[in-house]
Amino acid sequence: MASEPIIRIRDLVVGFGDRTVLDGVSVDVNQGEIFGFVGGSGSGKSVLLRTVIGLIQSRSGTIDVLGHRLTGASQEQRRQIERRWGILFQQGALFSSLSVIENVQFPMREFLDLSPRMLNEVARLKLELVGLDAKDCDKFPSELSGGMIKRVALARALALDPELVFLDEPTSGLDPISAGDFDALIRTMQQTLGLTVFMITHDLQSLYTVCDRVGVLADGKVVAIGSIQEILKSPHAWVQEYFRGHRASALNSRFMTTAN
Ligand SMILES: Nc1ncnc2c1ncn2[C@@H]1O[C@H](COP(=O)(O)OP(=O)(O)OP(=O)(O)O)[C@@H](O)[C@H]1O
Ligand SMILES: [Mg+2]
Repeated sequence: MASEPIIRIRDLVVGFGDRTVLDGVSVDVNQGEIFGFVGGSGSGKSVLLRTVIGLIQSRSGTIDVLGHRLTGASQEQRRQIERRWGILFQQGALFSSLSVIENVQFPMREFLDLSPRMLNEVARLKLELVGLDAKDCDKFPSELSGGMIKRVALARALALDPELVFLDEPTSGLDPISAGDFDALIRTMQQTLGLTVFMITHDLQSLYTVCDRVGVLADGKVVAIGSIQEILKSPHAWVQEYFRGHRASALNSRFMTTAN
């Protein structure tokens, strides 16, 4: 029997002023899966993420995460759940005034009562996990490449041994090889740590190769959801354009021949 979804969103409405961005979004993310969330620029993907984690107030609808109702929860109840997830934000991934290791330690200082020595040890382990060297620990974000910044941000998202991670465009700005390496890293994390991953991405390669299921956001709603094969069958105009358009055609032809 399938277990309860790790994220359960029902009829979520979110807007700013007289503009409605999310107009009845419903989506489930299951235990242990990598769920990819795609949609046009400005369609509301980051708004959805920010609403789930409590940075934006919804107008109506419900959000349950890890079995707890977040909509209407108190600060204290939220904090209990926040402790169990990690986030890689689309922008401003790192604190520029903190070194690499201090960035990773940031959530640990907030939630855990560890000695300075333990803080260093655990943070170093997390950095090693995402493929960074000890010599990078004392660097500052301005001294890192884009790919290294993403890795440090992932290490920080993993700092508290979360059950769930939210990744907002983890591979944007990376060259295809680095993006592929990052995808492989996410897959390894999911497999070895048993993580559930909610990943917002525009990266077709990620959607095809690393996501177990995909949801498509358009016109304020989830217009298609399922495996990539199921998504490709959706008649929705945006889905057709995005997955079958010119830029996607090479990937599609490869995928369709293996899928058929
Ligand atoms: N705090 C805010 N106040 C007012 N409008 C906002 C706010 N945050 C987001 N928006 C608007 O909501 C819409 C959706 O934004 P969002 O950042 O979720 O897009 P997105 O799907 O993540 O796009 P991208 O793929 O470019 O990251 C945009 O029109 C944006 O201007
Ligand atoms: Mg966004």
